Amino acid sequence: MRKALVAANWKMNGRRSANEKLIAALVAGLDQAKAGAVDVVVFPPAVYLADVRQMVSGSMIELGAQNVSLESLDGAFTGECSAQMFCDAGCGWVLVGHSERRAMFGETEDVVAAKMRAALDADLSPVLCVGETLEQRQGGALEQVVSSQVVSALSSLSVPMLSRVVLAYEPVWAIGSGLTASPEQAQEVHEMIRAVVAGMGGEELAQKIRIVYGGSVSAANAELIFAQPDIDGGLVGGASLKAEDFLAICRASADQAAVG
Ligand code: 13P
Repeated sequence: MRKALVAANWKMNGRRSANEKLIAALVAGLDQAKAGAVDVVVFPPAVYLADVRQMVSGSMIELGAQNVSLESLDGAFTGECSAQMFCDAGCGWVLVGHSERRAMFGETEDVVAAKMRAALDADLSPVLCVGETLEQRQGGALEQVVSSQVVSALSSLSVPMLSRVVLAYEPVWAIGSGLTASPEQAQEVHEMIRAVVAGMGGEELAQKIRIVYGGSVSAANAELIFAQPDIDGGLVGGASLKAEDFLAICRASADQAAVG
């Protein structure tokens, strides 16, 4: 049995007072929902990590960073934060290879692979994001694009390292667009990703590794998406900024864990 994971990617959103209200509502609501069956992680902007760490202290909510430097040694890398620094600041998690970073900040597959290694070397658990654009899907390149993203990011990692990785399938066309992959479309890709992982690290690893879905997950569609056998939770953008919506998504995941 894989434990579900629901993660909140705040992206470049939030202010101290709004963060405080949001986290207070999540802490209260998650206790009510008895969401112990689900790992819940929030990824605030780096500048708010210390604040949010205090706010989630004593709760089940874990903390992660949205980005990490590929450099491991301290030094002259203006504007960067290393994986060790995020650990030191209380993070257990980091997002790597989000499509916004690949598309807007020029992160290549080599950069993504180096960040995976930097995170794992520092004992941060990476959430590796992969996904195709609409043109790639329509042009029949879905499988090739997604499997190449998975293989290039993971191929230099040992099986013990791989077992600490979470994968997030986020079709680029579904991010922030209100267009969600249908549960069947998402399941099909998750199953394919699991087969790629099996090819790299064996069937046992593939059955253990968590693969979450991201792309316009909402309180309305979470239940059907999470009901799919290879979907182990969600990486939520817009809906994670509203406590009620994010709590409903966490509950949908917890309900599914209870059923499955
Ligand atoms: P939305 O949920 O806003 O579509 O964002 C998804 C995402 O990119 C999470 O990383």
